[in-house]
Amino acid sequence: MRISVFGMGYVGCVSAACFADMHHEIIGVDVNLQKLDLIKKGQSPIIEPGLDELLAQVIKTGALQVTDSAEYAIKNSDISMVCVGTPSKQNGSLDTHFLLRVMEQIGATLKSIEHYHVVTIRSTLLPGVAKEYIIPLLEQTSGKTAGEDFGVCVNPEFLRESSAIDDFQNPPFTLIGQFDQRSGDRLAEAYAPIDRPVFRTEPDAASMVKYASNNFHALKVAFANEIGAVCNQLDIDSQQVMRVFCEDRSLNISKTYLRPGFAFGGSCLPKDVRALSYAAKHRDVHTPLLDSILPSNENHIERAVRKVLERGNRHVVMLGLSFKPGTDDLRESPLVTVAETLIGKGYKLKIYDEEVILSNIFGKNKEYIERSLPHISELLTSDVEGALKDAETIIIGKRLKNMDEICGMFEEHQFVLDLEYIADWAPAESEKIV
Ligand SMILES: NC(=O)c1ccc[n+]([C@@H]2O[C@H](COP(=O)([O-])OP(=O)(O)OC[C@H]3O[C@@H](n4cnc5c(N)ncnc54)[C@H](O)[C@@H]3O)[C@@H](O)[C@H]2O)c1
Repeated sequence: MRISVFGMGYVGCVSAACFADMHHEIIGVDVNLQKLDLIKKGQSPIIEPGLDELLAQVIKTGALQVTDSAEYAIKNSDISMVCVGTPSKQNGSLDTHFLLRVMEQIGATLKSIEHYHVVTIRSTLLPGVAKEYIIPLLEQTSGKTAGEDFGVCVNPEFLRESSAIDDFQNPPFTLIGQFDQRSGDRLAEAYAPIDRPVFRTEPDAASMVKYASNNFHALKVAFANEIGAVCNQLDIDSQQVMRVFCEDRSLNISKTYLRPGFAFGGSCLPKDVRALSYAAKHRDVHTPLLDSILPSNENHIERAVRKVLERGNRHVVMLGLSFKPGTDDLRESPLVTVAETLIGKGYKLKIYDEEVILSNIFGKNKEYIERSLPHISELLTSDVEGALKDAETIIIGKRLKNMDEICGMFEEHQFVLDLEYIADWAPAESEKIV
């Protein structure tokens, strides 16, 4: 394929060299003539293992040529991959001016070409930027329509400096955020030589995967360092702790706990988060990340309550009360907090949870629920059908055994707040919390 790469920096140089090595015809574009001179000589303008050799090879074969002319590049390619910088502004917001400048240049040339061209954004950009700024700018400068006359894709890059060539050639997946099917099909052809899974989403979801990934990586480093700092104060070998921690591929290094849903709770997580934060504080170790976990969780519970309050419906049924399916443990269940808050505000609440049978609850669990919801026996019902008939708002808090049957009882006028992405069907007036 004929591909132009805009911005011959860390991402652009590696992408251009690797695509050229995959037998595509590449035109690299940059405004920095010094960089272009170096690349023309087969030398890398950045330090990156293996890149000098790869650039020398693809320049020699002619698979990669470079230019400072956006017009030449667009006229002679079917796809453009935009890899210019998107740095932070002073206030932390995303600086898109390089990106928008390139789009103006591309749009101006799109105006005069006959062939179908897909503009692909490899730069990291926030959700919304493509739809709100880039596409309107391309349409305005070209006088053409996205999705009809030209294509647009958001195609984030996941490579890491220092292992960029290997990351490019062996990515975890290829992510194509397509404006329309035809744009995505064309871009997918460029990646055909890379035998890895391809995920196709809408553009904003693709942008968000990139941000979720980098934020998670940053979170992991900060987490490991805070655990390490606490270990250090306690004279514990932090390297050993995290080595063993990482051996748990079932709960720790896995998909578990990474599905958006409702808040955590139960008799272990809240108390253990609290205890570690306290232990750190007690030893003067500052752990802002660990300290923020419970406030974040509480915020999530408040989000759910707010959604119910915003509707203003007084008759509410909550499906589920214990902190997760398969247990009757009510201790620190976030659903108990939701119930407590709604009752405090005068809402008429009924709760159905087949796993919570008051006569079978003992000890600390019983003490907890009697303290949190003193009139629990009046709130709990075993007649879900009867309760749902009078409901205006229904909160789905956990998966119950007969969930499909229960969802079949919902009526079109009811507002369903699905906290756990459970209901296959819900009335039009439904919402999810995340
Ligand atoms: N560096 C990484 O490891 C990495 C990894 C993944 C994603 N990203 C993202 O990729 C994007 C690029 O990052 P980078 O580190 O390669 O940036 P960079 O600053 O190294 O390179 C950007 C290049 O774009 C050129 N440029 C600016 N305006 C131009 C224009 N109008 N036409 C042509 N070229 C122009 C600059 O001269 C420069 O060479 C950013 O959005 C970044 O967040 C970076």
